[in-house]
Amino acid sequence: MKQIDRLTSLGLFNARVPRYTSYPTAPVFSTDVGATQQAQSLAALDASEPVSVYLHIPFCERLCWFCACRTQGTKTLSPVESYIGTLERELAILKDTLPDGLRMGRMHWGGGTPTILPPHLIHRLAQAVRAVIPPTETHEFSVEIDPTMVDRDKIAALAQEGMNRASIGIQDFDPKVQDAIGRMQPFDVTKACVDDLRAAGITSLNADLVYGLPHQDIARLDDTVSKVLDLSPDRVALFGYAHVPWVSKRQKLIDETALPQEVERYELASHAASRFTGAGFTAIGIDHFARSADGLARAAATGHLRRNFQGYTDDTCPTLIGIGASSISRLPTGYVQNAPATAAYVQRIEAGELAGSRGHVMTREDLLRARAIEMIMCDFRMDRSALRAAFGDTSRSLDLLIAQVAAQFGDFVDVTEEALEIRPSGQPLTRIIASAFDAYTQDAVRYSQAS
Ligand SMILES: C[S@@+](CC[C@H](N)C(=O)[O-])C[C@H]1O[C@@H](n2cnc3c(N)ncnc32)[C@H](O)[C@@H]1O
Ligand code: SF4
Repeated sequence: MKQIDRLTSLGLFNARVPRYTSYPTAPVFSTDVGATQQAQSLAALDASEPVSVYLHIPFCERLCWFCACRTQGTKTLSPVESYIGTLERELAILKDTLPDGLRMGRMHWGGGTPTILPPHLIHRLAQAVRAVIPPTETHEFSVEIDPTMVDRDKIAALAQEGMNRASIGIQDFDPKVQDAIGRMQPFDVTKACVDDLRAAGITSLNADLVYGLPHQDIARLDDTVSKVLDLSPDRVALFGYAHVPWVSKRQKLIDETALPQEVERYELASHAASRFTGAGFTAIGIDHFARSADGLARAAATGHLRRNFQGYTDDTCPTLIGIGASSISRLPTGYVQNAPATAAYVQRIEAGELAGSRGHVMTREDLLRARAIEMIMCDFRMDRSALRAAFGDTSRSLDLLIAQVAAQFGDFVDVTEEALEIRPSGQPLTRIIASAFDAYTQDAVRYSQAS
């Protein structure tokens, strides 16, 4: 049987499995966990260990049709300004909750479009966070940037507040593809943004691309990759287009008949990947590429690559405090998500409470499986010896699952007492193999396809 047929028979094109930016995944969180557990867990944090902070800005001036992010469109600044006021109130509640002396090692602003904020709101928000959780000496501050929604003044304001990493959304440079996804973005505008970011001292620049978009073919994607290489990013994320119109209603505007079909998607991803590795990038996990000097490549080389809600990261900090509507905190006791809808989040904060509304309390078994899945997603290798050392007898619960994976995936995997390793030929199946270690029923939840 041909390689692609074998991958297909193992579910490459029809499995609907999570991307495992967390385990358990957010759709299986329960409403049994809320603000009470959030407050207790935050209050019990060890103040000597720096935390990471994620701030969610759920607003965009444009609403791209392909986008599955939780965000709302606005043409005026007033809802944004009012939301910043709510974030400040959430920070005030956190100040009363968190232990004294807690410091922030990383901060990430995501969305939506954080660069919808004008300079005065950028300063207000950054100062409000610092007043509650002061940064460490070496802290990193990264921001998601829409190149069409930023200017020099905003970049200068972010740089003044310490931004040293940035991620820009590109998706595809081809005008026909851009038209089909409702997101026009000229190369010149993107290039000017990159130049301004570099001039402002950004040393780690990521570019987001998406394959599997309507009208994309090898020639168009190839041209996009050439343009991206001209921009010299340090990292590239190459996401497979997740067509989930049952979650993201605006995707109903996408012409489904123009979407590349399964094998074509696979070929698009493979082609772009070979262009990036051919240009000297290191492939990282299932969908990232990085220059060897970049932190992500160094983390991958030293076993420090991790996965969080933004995807791959070199941030090894175990605690993440999510601030803003829908943000998820990863705390020593488990996950807590703030009310996903902005209106519900605002109502909770304005009532003077934390906004946690769903989550998951981690058992030891969950922690074991979470780390096992993270190892598979990051390293294509589950280090059984490391899991035994960390989890002792609990790790035995994986043995039967590992044997099942060995039987099902044959020579796409190597299994020894030390490790379960996915061979390069089996790496397109990574999400499917990871899902073999997921104990929570996924039946009720519909994810995007695995390739
Ligand atoms: C918050 S957005 C990017 C920041 C900024 N708003 C922009 O548009 O440039 C995060 C990224 O998620 C990715 N993304 C959004 N919707 C997606 C989908 N349906 N499938 C795959 N990737 C998606 C895109 O690559 C996008 O750049
Ligand atoms: S891709 Fe960016 S700008 Fe477009 S809707 Fe999504 S978050 Fe907003």
